[in-house]
Amino acid sequence: MAVSERAAPPAGSGRARVRNPYSSLPSWLYPSFVVLALTMFGVYTAWVVLFQPVAQSGSYLSPFDSPLIIAGGIPAGILVVWAPLVFRGTCYYYRKAYFRSFFWHPRSCAVDEPKRGPYRGETAFPWVLNNLHRFTFYVIFVQVLFLVFDAIIGFDFHGRFGIGFGSVLMAFNVVLLSGYTFGCHALRHLAGGSLDCFSCSTVARTRYQLWRCVTVLNVRHDRWAWASLFSVWLTDLYIRLLMAGVRHDPRLIFCWPSITRPSRRTSWCSARAVPACALRSPRPRVARA
Ligand code: FES
Repeated sequence: MAVSERAAPPAGSGRARVRNPYSSLPSWLYPSFVVLALTMFGVYTAWVVLFQPVAQSGSYLSPFDSPLIIAGGIPAGILVVWAPLVFRGTCYYYRKAYFRSFFWHPRSCAVDEPKRGPYRGETAFPWVLNNLHRFTFYVIFVQVLFLVFDAIIGFDFHGRFGIGFGSVLMAFNVVLLSGYTFGCHALRHLAGGSLDCFSCSTVARTRYQLWRCVTVLNVRHDRWAWASLFSVWLTDLYIRLLMAGVRHDPRLIFCWPSITRPSRRTSWCSARAVPACALRSPRPRVARA
């Protein structure tokens, strides 16, 4: 059992210094990182959703706007972003992270709680809303399917298969988001919860296998959480830089037709993108005299 070590209080101070038994890093580093990263992500999200147009460049669509829902004058992102924000805000890992960072809850039980009111757990407003997590999981499950579709469309350049930096980024983002979503504690409970016996029926055995798969992702849930947060951020930023003309998307376009039909999102193409097949096209024949 890990036990915090209480160092002798410095002379003149009434409070003992507590050494973190789980890490040699300074205790303030993790909460500072969480506060900084979540605050910056929140401000960036509010800015792009409320004040910026839909991030769409050629066949690329930002995860902030997917699925693209046009409804009157309402910014498209608002109709989409609420679900991942509620999902992340109520995620078991993020709860731990922001309780410890924004509200200065102790990282281990050997450290005193700051003085606050009577403990009511998550039974009173607003923390009772954390129970929405399992419901938003269903919404996010559907959204991940849309993002998979978007990632496939991202390899479609005017009906031809191609690989651009943006395509790779979108595919990578979907992998990280899937790792985060399908390692969710709520899914783990759906897969293997409320079972008294894992081997008593075919359904129970199947659920056990599913539970094991979810557990593989679940043990690193915190890493999937951060990696997917940054990949969503980076994907949106990259597409916006393309839209602004600040960046050129390096890409290789092949002669093969895309497996998707030419998308309605393929109206833009960088003039500097040279199809690979153009390099191999037959030379024009010279008419003999
Ligand atoms: S517990 Fe983190 S996504 Fe469900």
